[in-house]
Amino acid sequence: MLPPGLEQAGAEELVALGARAVRPLRWAVRFEADAASFYRLHLQARLPFRLLRQLAVFPCQSRDDLYAGVQDAADWQRWLPPEHSFRVDASGSLPGLSHGHYSALQVKNALVDWQRQRWGRRSSVELDHPDLQLHLHLGGGQAQLSVDGSGESLHRRGYRARMGLAPLKENLAAGLIRLTGWDGQVPLADPLCGSGTLLIEAACLALGRAPGLGRRFALERWPDFNAELWQRESEAAAQASPPLWAKGRPLAPIVGRELDPQVAEQARANAAAAGVGEMVRIETGDLRTFQPPAGPGVVVCNPPYGERIGELDALETLYSDLGALLKERCSGWDLWLLSGNPKLSGALRMKASRRLPVSNGGIDCRWLHYTIR
Ligand SMILES: C[S@@+](CC[C@H](N)C(=O)[O-])C[C@H]1O[C@@H](n2cnc3c(N)ncnc32)[C@H](O)[C@@H]1O
Repeated sequence: MLPPGLEQAGAEELVALGARAVRPLRWAVRFEADAASFYRLHLQARLPFRLLRQLAVFPCQSRDDLYAGVQDAADWQRWLPPEHSFRVDASGSLPGLSHGHYSALQVKNALVDWQRQRWGRRSSVELDHPDLQLHLHLGGGQAQLSVDGSGESLHRRGYRARMGLAPLKENLAAGLIRLTGWDGQVPLADPLCGSGTLLIEAACLALGRAPGLGRRFALERWPDFNAELWQRESEAAAQASPPLWAKGRPLAPIVGRELDPQVAEQARANAAAAGVGEMVRIETGDLRTFQPPAGPGVVVCNPPYGERIGELDALETLYSDLGALLKERCSGWDLWLLSGNPKLSGALRMKASRRLPVSNGGIDCRWLHYTIR
């Protein structure tokens, strides 16, 4: 499962990490992977929210088909002993099964009935931190039952204990950086950096820091979990983290600016927690006084766009001042700006060369690319 708009970039990332038969879908990517690659994806992929493993696909026309199909879908004796808790999430629909909540309930009933018959006892349903997290998807006359290998959403890297104003999710930020093609060799600046997510993800990407190292995943509680293979993949993921940029040159400057001193302080704390505090410099101050490092480089930013914070008139002035500043001080740089409001991005008075649709927390946005002249 991926942030909408990042399906292609997500597919490319999975291929690079060893997934096969990769096919972008809507908000997701279908792929095949052996156990080693599936572990590697958990440790190293930056873009997905979650990684699911399909247990079974079966034709499904009715509630009874769903009930019977779920009972036959896996060796439940191994996957779900009664002392393990579980939860079921459902998406999609079929005639007679149009409510996700109801379909999930049908899966739960099929499983606990099966357990009662087998053991005379049943698992409890646990919404937070269950031992087994199942996902049902209905559509096209079929039911797909999967297990979630991730547990907690993969975007929660663990470095952002505190929140700025309207922070980007870490996996979306990583995907946006990937779309810019920035490679760590030229400066990167975010003059409205908030809690620093774009810059921190960029630094981690350039340094090859594996986002999943040191985290716990749901797949570690699966019956066929291979601890030795996991250990090997974890060691390989740690090796993929050189102290400097791979070409042997140090990382180019990564600089952020933030008006609110408390939010700037959070950004510094987040960068330190992510282990990139040395590489990411966060200044406190207004973007209008921003002095970029020697360039050309890449400016990325996610200015407020009024849906959640800020008022429109003041924001138009902010965008207009940002456009003026960039033209004055960053000529020859690239600008990538996340826009949730075309009226505001118009106030930049610059012409975008690319407009990539993405969704940020349900808000339809564009990741706009400009060459600053
Ligand atoms: C939408 S948030 C950025 C969120 C950020 N991408 C993150 O992930 O945390 C926009 C930020 O711009 C900051 N800001 C607003 N006006 C500013 C100005 N004139 N100069 C610098 N920063 C400003 C706000 O304080 C806010 O933190």
